[in-house]
Amino acid sequence: MLADTKIILEKARRKNYAVAHFNINNLEIVQGVVAAAVKLKAPIILATSEGALNYAGMNYLYSIAKTASELHQIPIALHLDHGKNLKAIRQAINLGYSSVMIDASHEKFERNVRLTKKVVRWAHRKGVSVEAELGTIGGTEDLVSARKIIYTNPEKAREFIDRTGCDFLAVAIGTSHGAYKFKGTAKLRIDLLKEIKNRTKIPLVLHGASGVPKNVVKMAERYGANLKGVQGVPDQQISLAVKNGINKINTDTDLRIAFDAAVRNFLKGNPKDFDPRHILAPARDLIQKVAEQRIILFGSVKKG
Ligand code: G3H
Ligand code: 13P
Ligand code: ZN
Repeated sequence: MLADTKIILEKARRKNYAVAHFNINNLEIVQGVVAAAVKLKAPIILATSEGALNYAGMNYLYSIAKTASELHQIPIALHLDHGKNLKAIRQAINLGYSSVMIDASHEKFERNVRLTKKVVRWAHRKGVSVEAELGTIGGTEDLVSARKIIYTNPEKAREFIDRTGCDFLAVAIGTSHGAYKFKGTAKLRIDLLKEIKNRTKIPLVLHGASGVPKNVVKMAERYGANLKGVQGVPDQQISLAVKNGINKINTDTDLRIAFDAAVRNFLKGNPKDFDPRHILAPARDLIQKVAEQRIILFGSVKKG
């Protein structure tokens, strides 16, 4: 059975660690991140963006995630990431997702409150929990592109949670989606996170948190990728964020780069092999390695 995201994250909040949210788009990504979580006995959240649903279909991804949760003893939740389309959000709630995100962060405060409240009403009726966002994460986010960071206002965060009844809040403290997160020094606003944490009592979520590991980037570049200028969130900044109250950390870009690097590596070395299983198995393995490093960094080993 799919796990309850709220139970997983409330435990993380009480015990001060973060649970890994991994974006999934196909079977191999699910198998890679789940293998990592099983090995480390960690809870995980599998997440589908609207882009993932357009690519693979909600029913397919739901079934794969549900199967994973039935095959293994660790808590595996399924989450709708960056829900902007109310119809897709309703579908996910009705299909049996563990949680949904309503992302109305690009709207004015009052409209964000109204839309979030509406989704909370639908979701809670079905026992589904809700993540909302206040402030905006930078970078490319789902189908909306090139957004600037608007830092979360701590006082507004408290008001937003009180008025909407959302279960988790995504905060903007300096991260961006994608592989190009910082031009100069990479630094998160931990001061702001502390202020938000002091005023709120629900699990806080960090989007755009990929580390863009240099060894994986190098491997992709060795086999033809052009990843000039990429920069992720340094591990030490992630540890500080966890220490100061982040309980869910979203990773997609690191999995994409791992997938890309492993596929390029295989194809370059095996020009005569066209078996998709041979091409994709190394990608699955590298995704597992990267996911293991994330789970260890977040402090959720043996928390499953
Ligand atoms: O937060 C965004 C995720 O990286 C999903 O991206 O919409 O391209 O699937 P996507
Ligand atoms: P990254 O692009 O840093 O992996 O962020 C993913 C994310 O926030 C998904 O919601
Ligand atoms: Zn995100």
